[in-house]
Amino acid sequence: MTENPALSNLSHETRHFDPPEELAEQANVGEDAYDEAAADPLVFWETQAERLEWAQKWDTALDWDPPFAKWFVGGSLNVAVNCLDRHVAAGRGDKVAIHFEGEPGDKRSITYAELTAEVCKAANALTELGVQTGDRVMIYLPMIPEAAISMLACARIGAPHSVVFGGFSPESLRNRIDDCGSKFVITSDGGYRRGAASALKSNVDAAADADGSPVERILVVRRTGQDVDWNPDRDLWWHDVVDRQSDRHEAEAFDAEHPLFILYTSGTTAKPKGILHTSGGYLTQTSYTHHAVFDHKAETDVYWCTADIGWVTGHSYIVYGPMSNGATQVMYEGTPDTPHQGRFWEIVQNYGVTLLYTAPTAIRTFMKWGAEIPSEFDLSSLRLLGSVGEPINPEAWMWYREHIGGDNCPIVDTWWQTETGGIMISPLPGVTSTKPGSAQRALPGISADVVDESGQPVPNGGGGYLVLTEPWPAMLRTIWGDDERFKETYWSRFSKQGYYFAGDGAKKDDDGDLWLLGRVDDVMNISGHRISTTEVESALVSHPKVAEAAVVGATDPTTGQGIVAFVILRGGNDEEGADLVKELRNHVAKEIGPIAKPRQIMIVPELPKTRSGKIMRRLLRDVAENRDLGDVTTLADPTVMNMIGDGLKSDKPSAEE
Ligand code: WT7
Repeated sequence: MTENPALSNLSHETRHFDPPEELAEQANVGEDAYDEAAADPLVFWETQAERLEWAQKWDTALDWDPPFAKWFVGGSLNVAVNCLDRHVAAGRGDKVAIHFEGEPGDKRSITYAELTAEVCKAANALTELGVQTGDRVMIYLPMIPEAAISMLACARIGAPHSVVFGGFSPESLRNRIDDCGSKFVITSDGGYRRGAASALKSNVDAAADADGSPVERILVVRRTGQDVDWNPDRDLWWHDVVDRQSDRHEAEAFDAEHPLFILYTSGTTAKPKGILHTSGGYLTQTSYTHHAVFDHKAETDVYWCTADIGWVTGHSYIVYGPMSNGATQVMYEGTPDTPHQGRFWEIVQNYGVTLLYTAPTAIRTFMKWGAEIPSEFDLSSLRLLGSVGEPINPEAWMWYREHIGGDNCPIVDTWWQTETGGIMISPLPGVTSTKPGSAQRALPGISADVVDESGQPVPNGGGGYLVLTEPWPAMLRTIWGDDERFKETYWSRFSKQGYYFAGDGAKKDDDGDLWLLGRVDDVMNISGHRISTTEVESALVSHPKVAEAAVVGATDPTTGQGIVAFVILRGGNDEEGADLVKELRNHVAKEIGPIAKPRQIMIVPELPKTRSGKIMRRLLRDVAENRDLGDVTTLADPTVMNMIGDGLKSDKPSAEE
């Protein structure tokens, strides 16, 4: 098993921190939840499902036909009603749902009653445009309230949404639109990023103008006021269509297994996978975990998850989990350094944020900027801190605890994936004695283990592959349109045992606590974003000057991993140097999106290959991380590595552009 060497010392950590007494005494979920769930996991999840409002109660908790699951069979509910109308009906309509803060500083607070009205209008508008139950709707928006409104409007009418992160290119957007055959797109003219207005609509145009595109209607939110090209047969302004709708909408209840959304994520091949999530089980688990892991108290907490709605974290822990619990939350459009590096802490101070959920890459960036910056703000409202997206190194964990959490906030390091839908492994803040760098233990009702190559559980102190041994309510139901790939990707590795293979390496420490060690496949984790090596390789070889490319994720002090590409040029192209490297980096950004721009591109004469022609990525990683090369005897031509190594050290273009 390949393992990230930067993380291999993690599980020797001995520090631990008990929950603050006050929190432990009043925690939403106590120690007994583990026993209760262990005694009967299905009854446990049924109890959690009761937290929601069902139009029709289910007959059977789980129908498990491995690897296909149906949860809460026979039940029906409306997900949007659970996130909105339910709170208004209970007299909480005046409670703020979203404190929106735009990057330029514009602010807008929206109550649950207002949000419900907006979602009803948007649902009516979508219906008027011809969106029917089951139709897929693409959402390509910045972090503005309309993103959540659009998702909930889709949920309300049973039209599965597929949100594409605004940092993806027209080409990536087009592939996703084509894969799920979407006739409808919701976008905006643009959004604010790093102090400037960036365009979104033009990317949608490029995708929708392509031959054979299924797109018939584009609904456009005006955010920046920038000029946009307009196709009157196809494009409609949100304010023209949505604003004039009735704010009443009779919501139909849908089957518990009705598709709620498709979210694309990178796999080990060039083609992203459309992860399908459904309604009842997904909402049950996201709602419960938001309640349990963040100890969320609707009356007093102000919650802030800094993720973008384009990722699963935004789906589960900005929209569905928190809103099902009637949370008051902050939504911020921009980057943490605009207009100054204290922006996050200013927001925490101004809104009195109590629960903060962010990513290790952000924490490491704040560390780099220095502790003086947060120290200038009043962060005393914070009472709990969360981390997600990649392993958090103990230094970052300790810094987060000390400089953001004032040494008295529990940190919940939450492991999960797009595929799991909700948090799976995490401390419980009122129960767990936390250890810097460990996600620790499967939540009540969740069964995880670490197994060896043959699928046998490793003893405490051992390492291996992380698996999930029992179905869980928010699990992906399939890969959109590709059941075979679903079986192959997740269920074939340990098919004998019937385990879900997560693709992560993990260790158990002497207490049996879990330490995540990063991906064991060809998936990279760049700032908590999943990008496949193959995807970047095929983007590179689609450039006319490139003959062959190999891509690895090299350890990076801030982003976790950085993309390093080794490229062989086509015959006749002997040009080298900065211009070509820049051209290739921009080409990858154009093909996939700026998030996939390689940190480094190395033009090489050869790639290290085995005699059977397989590229030896391990060696390339060694070079990229400046390590001594391991065994090179299996190489067809061992001198290749010297040629590569010599060149690489002399050429390190920066990733910031
Ligand atoms: C991959 C899933 C879960 C939402 C964000 C990413 C890595 C995620 C942790 C964590 C160690 C983590 C894993 C996982 N990962 N959280 N707390 N500790 N690793 O979702 O894009 O589907 O990526 O992110 O490698 O497999 P995603």
